[in-house]
Amino acid sequence: MGAHGENESMDRPRLSICFLFILSLITPQPIFAARCSDSGNYTTNSTYAANLKTLLSSISNSSDLNSDGFFNASIGQNQDQVYALALCRGDQEITSCRSCLNDSSQAITKECPNQKEAFLYKDECMLRFSSRNILSSMDDGLFAMFYNLQNATNPAHFNEVLGSLLYDLREQASSDGVRKYAAKVVSYTSLSKIYGLEQCTPDIAKLHCEKCLDDAINDITHASGKVGALIIRYSCVLRFEMYQFFQLAVDAPPPPRSTPAPLAPQSPPPLSTGSTGTLRASLLSCLHCFNKVNKAVN
Ligand SMILES: *[C@@H]1O[C@H](CO)[C@@H](O)[C@H](O)[C@H]1NC(C)=O
Ligand SMILES: *[C@@H]1O[C@H](CO)[C@@H](O)[C@H](O)[C@H]1NC(C)=O
Ligand SMILES: *[C@@H]1O[C@H](CO)[C@@H](O)[C@H](O)[C@H]1NC(C)=O
Ligand SMILES: *[C@@H]1O[C@H](CO)[C@@H](O)[C@H](O)[C@H]1NC(C)=O
Ligand SMILES: *[C@@H]1O[C@H](CO)[C@@H](O)[C@H](O)[C@H]1NC(C)=O
Ligand SMILES: *[C@@H]1O[C@H](CO)[C@@H](O)[C@H](O)[C@H]1NC(C)=O
Repeated sequence: MGAHGENESMDRPRLSICFLFILSLITPQPIFAARCSDSGNYTTNSTYAANLKTLLSSISNSSDLNSDGFFNASIGQNQDQVYALALCRGDQEITSCRSCLNDSSQAITKECPNQKEAFLYKDECMLRFSSRNILSSMDDGLFAMFYNLQNATNPAHFNEVLGSLLYDLREQASSDGVRKYAAKVVSYTSLSKIYGLEQCTPDIAKLHCEKCLDDAINDITHASGKVGALIIRYSCVLRFEMYQFFQLAVDAPPPPRSTPAPLAPQSPPPLSTGSTGTLRASLLSCLHCFNKVNKAVN
């Protein structure tokens, strides 16, 4: 693709301007986060509503999911046209992929009952719809960032191992022709490991995937020294933890060597909490920590 999609993307209003939420996790728990855009509403019984319903209900059964866990389609015309993108985490079997999207396509209209644009993230899949053409164009806007509250015992060593892991994963994921997905585990100490995962929507070019993941890797500086983080940008996702949160592929080929690029320790830039939509995340502890984090940085 390239220039065409990119230009379109830049001309359109951004879903997230000055948007940054930091949410925190203490223990592994299911992640659910939804955001409704303020860009416009549709009315009950409108053609837009009917198109959206039809499109959402076609996702979980779509044969498009078979090859790469990815769905992208649109229906309707002019102001009634609806676009949808759905992506399952790269390690998901097709049945759990369909099941997650079936749940999500119902949950997204519960969360956002009349908004023309919405995004929903769960552990196993994510789903997005809009009245704008969001297909085949990179959007590296930040949707949400979660991090594990625990600190690494040796932050300098942790960041070095993590940096190397994250850049390896970026290279693997962006080079993956089908899924744009990579996951890997590396040793941190003799007793502990770091598990990492990176994924882009498969409809964007390698360069755009690299760019999106670069931005996600830079987001980690907000969580420097933390033992886990989840960065969700619209076109890519990055997560690492010190426990296994994805299925390890059987017979995964050894990754190509790449130059270790440790994350530079640096103080985070000022956080802005402005937003053009509302975010809801289903984690009590997370929302609690979220308030605390905002207070601390503002
Ligand atoms: C859209 O609807 C929501 C309530 O569902 C409301 O809060 C919001 O102000 C509406 N936005 C516009 C642009 O009318
Ligand atoms: C939508 O259509 C249903 C069934 O035709 C009707 O009962 C309902 O009042 C309509 N709602 C609006 C807001 O027009
Ligand atoms: C999806 O397929 C299942 C099994 O074939 C069927 O029961 C279900 O009604 C379909 N769902 C939709 C939304 O079409
Ligand atoms: C889809 O979700 C509906 C409602 O939650 C449920 O009744 C149905 O069994 C689900 N279908 C599949 C295939 O998971
Ligand atoms: C992690 O480190 C920060 C800053 O040094 C400290 O404020 C915080 O309490 C620590 N968290 C835990 C869980 O020990
Ligand atoms: C959907 O994504 C695929 C890549 O996975 C791309 O080839 C195709 O053109 C996209 N379709 C639309 C309608 O954008």
